Amino acid sequence: MVPWLSFSVHIIVLVLACNILAASGNNETDLLALLKFKANINGDPLGVVHSWNSTLNFCHWHGVTCGRRHQRVTVLDLQSLKLSGSISPHVGNLSFLRELNLQNNSFTQAIPPQIGRLHRLQNLFMQNNSFSGEIPPNISGCSNLVTFQVQNNQLEGSIPMELGFLSKVQIIHLQRNNLTGTIPPSVGNLSSLQAMYASENNFFGRFPHSLGQLMNLTIWDLSTNGFSGTIPPSIFNLSSIVLFDVAYNQFEGSLPSEIGNTFPNIKFLSISFNNFTGSIPISISNASNIVRLQLASNKLTGKVPSSLGKYPPKIASFRTFFQQS
Ligand SMILES: *[C@@H]1O[C@H](CO)[C@@H](O)[C@H](O)[C@H]1NC(C)=O
Ligand SMILES: *[C@@H]1O[C@H](CO)[C@@H](O)[C@H](O)[C@H]1NC(C)=O
Ligand SMILES: *[C@@H]1O[C@H](CO)[C@@H](O)[C@H](O)[C@H]1NC(C)=O
Ligand SMILES: *[C@@H]1O[C@H](CO)[C@@H](O)[C@H](O)[C@H]1NC(C)=O
Ligand SMILES: *[C@@H]1O[C@H](CO)[C@@H](O)[C@H](O)[C@H]1NC(C)=O
Ligand SMILES: *[C@@H]1O[C@H](CO)[C@@H](O)[C@H](O)[C@H]1NC(C)=O
Ligand SMILES: *[C@@H]1O[C@H](CO)[C@@H](O)[C@H](O)[C@H]1NC(C)=O
Ligand SMILES: *[C@@H]1O[C@H](CO)[C@@H](O)[C@H](O)[C@H]1NC(C)=O
Ligand SMILES: *[C@@H]1O[C@H](CO)[C@@H](O)[C@H](O)[C@H]1NC(C)=O
Ligand SMILES: *[C@@H]1O[C@H](CO)[C@@H](O)[C@H](O)[C@H]1NC(C)=O
Ligand SMILES: *[C@@H]1O[C@H](CO)[C@@H](O)[C@H](O)[C@H]1NC(C)=O
Ligand SMILES: *[C@@H]1O[C@H](CO)[C@@H](O)[C@H](O)[C@H]1NC(C)=O
Repeated sequence: MVPWLSFSVHIIVLVLACNILAASGNNETDLLALLKFKANINGDPLGVVHSWNSTLNFCHWHGVTCGRRHQRVTVLDLQSLKLSGSISPHVGNLSFLRELNLQNNSFTQAIPPQIGRLHRLQNLFMQNNSFSGEIPPNISGCSNLVTFQVQNNQLEGSIPMELGFLSKVQIIHLQRNNLTGTIPPSVGNLSSLQAMYASENNFFGRFPHSLGQLMNLTIWDLSTNGFSGTIPPSIFNLSSIVLFDVAYNQFEGSLPSEIGNTFPNIKFLSISFNNFTGSIPISISNASNIVRLQLASNKLTGKVPSSLGKYPPKIASFRTFFQQS
């Protein structure tokens, strides 16, 4: 066999193999998965899934988008449709799904671990429902996940270590749940992470040092939890940070003297209602983009740097600070 022919045969075999691997299931699998999804909906006042019937091909059902080439579901968007019920494990069979948007409904029970079979999933929106149970460790199977939003639910348990495998995830919203435990060190492995919202939960313990690896982090909002200890100095070296909010925790230690130089892009910095000690670093005046600086209710001492006088209308919440010093 001539070399180029052998080469192209290899390519064809490879392409075939990839197609077989990719096409787990077929359009009938998707139809069955959608029917199982429908069967688990027990409240549908707007008649949305009620209209999912055989008069139309499933690709034309309300909320369903299919890919052009294969008749496979790529988007399931059922946001804000007053739906209640639970999520069928069959959702994990929609193997071409790129976006699952169930936000702002009344879904209950657990997020099924079968969701981890959705290897193409990029956006998962489940916020503002009544999901309970734990974040399934199998979420790590969603290796293409970019956005993960589950805020405003009743999730409990801790953040699974496996979350750290989501190397493409950029945005995580966990706020307003009943999550507990510590931030697993593996979160420092989320190299694409830009925004982490986890306020108003029951998290505790120290921030892991590994967080100092999150070079693209711009938003870190972990306020209103039970975190304690000192904040690892490496976190203050993340120059991309724009919003840093750790208010209402039990942190101690002092702010690094160079904070205004190592957080050059900071706009919102809040450490209110903790146990921080030491003085307000003079370098803060170098953080020229700052619009909100909240330091109230700590054990800070010394003077407010006179350089902050340049921005008097912008500075909020010094009241308690002054009362204490
Ligand atoms: C699945 O695809 C086949 C071949 O394109 C087609 O004949 C069949 O009607 C489809 N089934 C559904 C449920 O869309
Ligand atoms: C089937 O769905 C269509 C819309 O997709 C709707 O007009 C029709 O009433 C439905 N039929 C039944 C029996 O629910
Ligand atoms: C949430 O859904 C309700 C209907 O259940 C709707 O009135 C409201 O506008 C939705 N909120 C958002 C932010 O979409
Ligand atoms: C789909 O998922 C369910 C539950 O996870 C499973 O029992 C079923 O065998 C899967 N496969 C197909 C082809 O529907
Ligand atoms: C959350 O859902 C409730 C009930 O459906 C709705 O009234 C409310 O507007 C929603 N909130 C947001 C932020 O979407
Ligand atoms: C969860 O992941 C484990 C390990 O990858 C796998 O063995 C198991 O089948 C998965 N569970 C489901 C429900 O997909
Ligand atoms: C949160 O969890 C704690 C401990 O498990 C429990 O006592 C509390 O009732 C839960 N709160 C909510 C709002 O679910
Ligand atoms: C982070 O990723 C590296 C490389 O994959 C791995 O060796 C390490 O164990 C991971 N760290 C944690 C805390 O999971
Ligand atoms: C970090 O951000 C830069 C600039 O936006 C981008 O080029 C790079 O790919 C990002 N790194 C990761 C791991 O996402
Ligand atoms: C912060 O960055 C500076 C300059 O790059 C470096 O000298 C210092 O060791 C870093 N500190 C930590 C705690 O990573
Ligand atoms: C601050 O520390 C004291 C003990 O030194 C403790 O009683 C108090 O609860 C702490 N406050 C906060 C907000 O962590
Ligand atoms: C503010 O920034 C300038 C220029 O980078 C630097 O020379 C100076 O030392 C900084 N001031 C403080 C108090 O860190």
